[in-house]
Amino acid sequence: MKRVTVIGGGTMGNGIAHVCAQGGLDVTLVDLDADALERGLQTIRKNLERQAKKGRIEASEVEATLGRIRGETDVATGVAQADLVVEAVPEKAELKYSLFRTLDEAAPESAILASNTSSISITEIAARTNRPERVIGMHFMNPVPVMQLVEVIRGLATSDETTEAVMALSRDLGKTPVEVNDFPGFVSNRVLMPMINEAVFALMEGVAEPEAIDTVMKLGMNHPMGPLTLADLIGLDTCLNILEVLHRELGDDRYRPSPLLRKYVAAGWLGRKSGRGFYTYD
Ligand code: CAA
Repeated sequence: MKRVTVIGGGTMGNGIAHVCAQGGLDVTLVDLDADALERGLQTIRKNLERQAKKGRIEASEVEATLGRIRGETDVATGVAQADLVVEAVPEKAELKYSLFRTLDEAAPESAILASNTSSISITEIAARTNRPERVIGMHFMNPVPVMQLVEVIRGLATSDETTEAVMALSRDLGKTPVEVNDFPGFVSNRVLMPMINEAVFALMEGVAEPEAIDTVMKLGMNHPMGPLTLADLIGLDTCLNILEVLHRELGDDRYRPSPLLRKYVAAGWLGRKSGRGFYTYD
């Protein structure tokens, strides 16, 4: 695989473009919104400069990596030459379904279509295309340039060949891929989200203040950040969307989103990206 197109210039999309370009691939980053695309490209520059400043990469690698990324605002043009497309648009099922129909029409027949979805069924996304055997989940973790894992999700029809190609590419990017099957929330969010949700219930019920809840989990369980800080990093709207999928599709009350989480999302308190969540940010 030489040419990768990433759809969506947000937190996950620009991180995926960053690591693919760093891995030597030619990358097209697509966002329909020219301002969002520009912000995504600027974020990649900022994160590469941070890596260079910390001595993680050579200074010359910053421009070389950026030179392998081009921006594009039209999906069909952006995927016309792609060997692999990685979709990273917001977690809305209908949006992903319609995008995959477009990708199926516009991308070369041999291209693999991957989704970075954190909870939507790969099997259902694949069913919207005429190439379900070449549709797969490629779930990166935030912050993408730092986190080691890629959760590789096989839909019901995903072929061995597609899975092997995506596992190999993930390794080439310096990541550790783990293969899982297509069930709601896969493994990562099926295990992570109940913990975050329980922390929000604990806050709602007055068990402890946010800092106390996070400190217990950081120092007591050696987590790099507490669950409420992590929820702010992921985005409270994303956490709520994932919990709703788990609750609806696994049908168990233990996945019921906390009313306090719903209230924060309704208020527009979405975490770091909106400047306020369980904590406030400059
Ligand atoms: N790009 C490049 N480098 C970055 C970066 C970015 N966006 N963000 C942080 N870094 C680098 C820093 O430069 C630093 O590098 P060095 O080790 O070379 O110094 C390193 O990462 C650590 O960063 P900091 O020192 O600033 O801060 P930290 O030690 O507190 O680490 C963290 C930050 C890596 C985010 C750490 O707190 C952590 O691992 N948190 C948990 C993150 C996590 O669980 N992510 C998964 C979320 S779930 C998900 O994404 C999936 C989903 O579907 C919801």
